[in-house]
Amino acid sequence: MKRLSGKVAIVTGAGRGIGRGIAIAYAREGAKVVVASRTKSTVDSVVEEIQAERGTALGIACDVGRRDDVFAMVAKTVSAFATVDILVNNAQGFGTERRRAPTPLPTPLEDLDEEEWEYTFRTGALATLWGMKAVFPCMKDRGGKIINFGSYLGQIGGEGTAAYNAAKEAIRALSRTAAREWGKYKINVNVINPAVMTDAMAGYFDAHPDEAEAVLRQIPLRRWGDPVKDAGGLAVFLASSDADYLTGMTFQLDGGGGMRA
Ligand SMILES: NC(=O)c1ccc[n+]([C@@H]2O[C@H](COP(=O)([O-])OP(=O)(O)OC[C@H]3O[C@@H](n4cnc5c(N)ncnc54)[C@H](OP(=O)(O)O)[C@@H]3O)[C@@H](O)[C@H]2O)c1
Repeated sequence: MKRLSGKVAIVTGAGRGIGRGIAIAYAREGAKVVVASRTKSTVDSVVEEIQAERGTALGIACDVGRRDDVFAMVAKTVSAFATVDILVNNAQGFGTERRRAPTPLPTPLEDLDEEEWEYTFRTGALATLWGMKAVFPCMKDRGGKIINFGSYLGQIGGEGTAAYNAAKEAIRALSRTAAREWGKYKINVNVINPAVMTDAMAGYFDAHPDEAEAVLRQIPLRRWGDPVKDAGGLAVFLASSDADYLTGMTFQLDGGGGMRA
């Protein structure tokens, strides 16, 4: 028996990286997966990958920085698959609406572009709230699993990335609040803080090899996480009935890199 058989899952930002890994892992465990990401071509290619493995996937191009897109994406999911059991709020925009970037733009706090602050919050914390509100009517009577994305950078207050840090910590605070308020509906809300190798990160480290080695030395397991095996594996567990008694928690998916005493 597959662990997510019969479940309907939405994964945002599933066109590449961690979201793609989770979408593939969910489909392998029998979920009907909505691949919801901004760029239609990448959405289509992930849907094709899943279908090639005989999984069930529906692609929806959706910019999570637009409220109407998020609610329409959930409505389309319900009309295709009748409900939503699992929501993974993985998408996160960087830069600004007019000047998008693949990662946070390192900037001293005193020079922080307030447009970047707004865009980072809108595509991160606010988008996460919109997704949660949109699926709540489906989950209120049947329960559900919500997985949101934070970052170790937010936890330590990494230098130069204030907008990202603050948005990610807002997502963790929102998740804990939802875990308390929605626990009575059997809705579990957890957060993953990943250190997982993606194309965007590989591109950055190719350009900064010394930094790549230094970061790797700080990871006790001496490797980066894999989007399908590691991110997908944890996300399957958190979406499954094995995690029914876990809520409001942040899971450090980082090879021990963020370990604290
Ligand atoms: N990788 C890590 O180690 C790491 C560390 C800390 C936190 N995180 C968090 O983990 C999550 C996934 O990260 P990742 O490294 O997999 O990112 P990624 O490789 O950059 O992929 C992000 C995905 O999200 C999509 N996306 C971006 N903005 C969007 C928007 N406004 N609406 C819809 N989709 C959007 C992108 O679509 P397009 O291709 O169309 O741009 C892309 O498919 C993020 O929340 C990130 O902050 C990752």
